[in-house]
Amino acid sequence: MKFVMRAGFAGLVAAAAAFAAGTDNLPVVQGEVTFSKDIAPILQRSCQNCHQPESVAPMSLITYKEVRPWAKSIKTRTLIRDKAGVMPPWYLERNIGIQHFKNDTSPSDLDLAKIAKWVDSGAPEGNPKDLPAPIEIGQNKHWTAGQPDLVVPSEWVTVKAGSPDWWGELKPAPTNLTEDRWVKSVEIREENDVDFGTDGGRKTVGSRYVFHHMIWTAGVPGAQFTAEDFSEGSSGIWPIHEVGRNADIFPDNAGKLLRAGSVLNLFSTHLHSNGRDTKSRLLYGFKFFPVGYQPELRYGIRALGNGVDIDIMGGQGNQRLDAYQVLESNTKITIYEPHMHAPGVRMCFEAIWGYNVQTLNCVGYDHNWVRAYDYDDDYAPLLPKGTILHIIGYFDQTGANKNVPDSRNWSGSGNRSITNMFIDLGQQLTLSDEKFEEEMAKRRAKMHYKPNEVVIGCPLCNGEPIKPRQRPAPAKPSGAGSE
Ligand code: HEC
Repeated sequence: MKFVMRAGFAGLVAAAAAFAAGTDNLPVVQGEVTFSKDIAPILQRSCQNCHQPESVAPMSLITYKEVRPWAKSIKTRTLIRDKAGVMPPWYLERNIGIQHFKNDTSPSDLDLAKIAKWVDSGAPEGNPKDLPAPIEIGQNKHWTAGQPDLVVPSEWVTVKAGSPDWWGELKPAPTNLTEDRWVKSVEIREENDVDFGTDGGRKTVGSRYVFHHMIWTAGVPGAQFTAEDFSEGSSGIWPIHEVGRNADIFPDNAGKLLRAGSVLNLFSTHLHSNGRDTKSRLLYGFKFFPVGYQPELRYGIRALGNGVDIDIMGGQGNQRLDAYQVLESNTKITIYEPHMHAPGVRMCFEAIWGYNVQTLNCVGYDHNWVRAYDYDDDYAPLLPKGTILHIIGYFDQTGANKNVPDSRNWSGSGNRSITNMFIDLGQQLTLSDEKFEEEMAKRRAKMHYKPNEVVIGCPLCNGEPIKPRQRPAPAKPSGAGSE
């Protein structure tokens, strides 16, 4: 059974028309809304991991006294929904595609309605007895994925207050591992000598940080990469460190291998001054699976995109680029990670299977915030080999895009923020035919799809399962003699 799902173009136009922020489609909230009872829990869940003392955000949003002066601005920023400027910085378009992500802490429509009503009714405090218990803060001082089993530091670097950006290689960092280990998670933190207590808050994008990003591989010096190192499409590359990036936690059945004697090759470092003389280094925190663990599946990073043919005209909005990739294996997409540069404002992600065209997701884009969209296991796209992945990028090179320094300029492809990239750097698992069937069977059993239901992200979930192909034995030509 096949489904025709023309979400592609019609859907995109509809989504574009629905941009206008506001309270229009929000639920109506009954009764009085107060800070203590209604707003504090929303801030805890959606805001305080950043809006706390000594973190990346310009102000703390914990107590009523701290929050009250920002009330109007909080309403404005939360209602922007999926465009640059929205708080929290999470740009998922709600009216198209998959809506279930592990790392989505954005407020629900009901939360947004509560914020709007609270602000419109004078932002009352309410009864402090209604306040929820405070949540743990100090995010920048601890490992969010838990205490690592191994911490590998890079060398120290010093970035002067007014120095230009720097690209280059740092010394390989030895892991000193004595046995091969499968990695469950990797989290990279920048450690530096900026003291918030005396040095105030943020002065540049990136706040206190100077490591803009780091592309790195892990390997044993002099040794050839093996099949395990080269997980599909990833060339031994690990998730790129970018300022503000979350920890990467690999699925239980698909770790990444760190070999005994490996070093971290820190071959593409971008340093960006934060406006003060800063001494800094990166800490790589690895958590391991137990000794003896063997992964069932192969994990990989997608590099779907077009790095070369980028041609962004000066002074024009709504410029579109397309890129395609054919999946050579059955694939479970675990993460969608649009990556563009300053002119990028939106990226859509489609799966084309036969005559199904499914929009998996559309997200806004703000080059100040690079986000990875980490699919919930029960909604992660399960795509048969032969599926064509398609990304559609939208670029705005006009004065309306605040990230573009001079909108009159043409720009092509390149590494700097004022030149362009157009890639999906997501992550995925490669599945054998048997594993693919197993994953779809699990999904069907759990999700109870109705007959004829279109399942976005799993074009075969609701159809006849494909059986591994068996070639019929060739018929013997009549009259053929014995071989
Ligand atoms: C991932 C970190 C992060 C999260 C989560 C987050 N913020 Fe922010 N917020 C920032 C940063 C950094 C800035 C300053 C840069 C900017 O404006 O984009 C900011 C700016 C703001 C501003 C504008 C401040 C100004 O100077 O005008 C408001 C208001 C705000 N956030 C409210 C919120 C609210 C409300 C939430 C939760 C619903 C939230 N933020 C969640 C990091 C975050």
